[in-house]
Amino acid sequence: MEATTGRSLAAGHSTISGSGEMTHLPVGRDRSLSKRRTDAKKRGAARAANNDTDDRYREAEGEGLGLGSPRDRDSCSSKLSQIEKTSTPQLLLALLAPSEHTITKRRQTQGPRPSLPAPFSNSPSSAQRKEIVSREDDADAAPRSLGFPPRFLSNFKHYTFHSVIHFAALKAVSESCQKPLEYYKTNVSGTINLLEVMRENNVKHFIYSSSATVYGVPQQLPLVEDMKTGNCTNPYGRTKFMVEEILKDLCTSDKEFSVISLRYFNPVGAHPSGQIGEDPNGIPNNLMPYIAQVSVGKRDTLYVYGNDYDTPDGTGVRDYIHIMDLAVGHVKAIIYQKTHNLKGFKPINLGTGKGYSVLEVIHAFEKASGKKISYKIVERRPGDISVSYADASIANKELNWVATKNMDDMCLDTWKWQQNNPNGYKN
Ligand SMILES: NC(=O)c1ccc[n+]([C@@H]2O[C@H](COP(=O)([O-])OP(=O)(O)OC[C@H]3O[C@@H](n4cnc5c(N)ncnc54)[C@H](O)[C@@H]3O)[C@@H](O)[C@H]2O)c1
Repeated sequence: MEATTGRSLAAGHSTISGSGEMTHLPVGRDRSLSKRRTDAKKRGAARAANNDTDDRYREAEGEGLGLGSPRDRDSCSSKLSQIEKTSTPQLLLALLAPSEHTITKRRQTQGPRPSLPAPFSNSPSSAQRKEIVSREDDADAAPRSLGFPPRFLSNFKHYTFHSVIHFAALKAVSESCQKPLEYYKTNVSGTINLLEVMRENNVKHFIYSSSATVYGVPQQLPLVEDMKTGNCTNPYGRTKFMVEEILKDLCTSDKEFSVISLRYFNPVGAHPSGQIGEDPNGIPNNLMPYIAQVSVGKRDTLYVYGNDYDTPDGTGVRDYIHIMDLAVGHVKAIIYQKTHNLKGFKPINLGTGKGYSVLEVIHAFEKASGKKISYKIVERRPGDISVSYADASIANKELNWVATKNMDDMCLDTWKWQQNNPNGYKN
């Protein structure tokens, strides 16, 4: 199937679940938030948008994509075309901090106001923000214990959404082995909660942040969407697999329901401005932010888990994808879903199709940063597989999506972010 365009789109708007970085939400006045607001003001494209008042949920008749008049779908059509025209990778922000990126994109394109749930569990000042959100929302309290704060639910009452992009999850593989119940509760029960809210509000388009982990130990490479899933090596992977199964059942039961399950490979990088990037709480769970913290002197040594895998240099091989490419993949998925009137469950890999070993990533980062990365080979980590890379031809053919950024771009942008923000958002 050929490329899709958004020109015939006549949608309402999207809501986003996932609260990676909440720069633009009215939930806190902590220093990191105001710092990020200040930074955002420096960015030309965000300047106008930043004039918003704190009440980001205010009804706005006729604004943007017609958020205030969401049922006026025809009037949305031309505005969505505008989004498509302006949706260059430079404007599309990324997923490691999903909410901020998507909100910023929305602002840059005058698109819809996304609605975001708390509890900001993987971002700085989470307790403070959570507290503020719950205080603000006391009056609107809803008896739903897992998942979404009342503000999120009340947005469904006030607006008509066309689709939901569901980023929210716990995602650390090793933590999932220690705290499986938390992972099943957030990732599986939380998703069911969200789907129930969607059902109650007749919203039938869903873009899901799935993962290459659903393939488990690869039977063959590259990984193709129609391969068997489920032989997962850790609880995190199983939560993603289980949710995919739930979504398949939902699509079977409701022929109007539409899911694109985007199976991310290894998202890395940062916004090329160096202003938005990954700021993990505590010790990074992923390779690239760990390398970045070593390069900036925040950590002494990188631990490389195993050099006896069946790979050219013995270290694990992964398919790294730049977050800007990943972000574009989501926009294309939403456009595709609408323009093709897609129903049912459709998994799509988002990867480059090329694998890099841990040592190759280290050397690429050294080249980008000009800094030597000190590393030490240690035992393999339980649950790790040897090699994983995608067949991305479905994304290419059907979404008209292709990864445009290579490992050098990924390292350069990560380095720029880390160098500008050695303490992340706490500067
Ligand atoms: N980063 C990766 O390597 C990777 C790979 C494959 C898939 N994914 C998926 O992509 C999505 C985004 O991941 P990310 O890398 O941006 O991680 P992230 O931790 O930055 O973002 C996930 C966000 O979900 C929020 N969250 C957690 N529990 C929540 C809850 N109960 N209610 C509301 N929000 C909650 C967290 O606060 C966090 O901000 C996740 O679903 C993840 O599983 C990530």
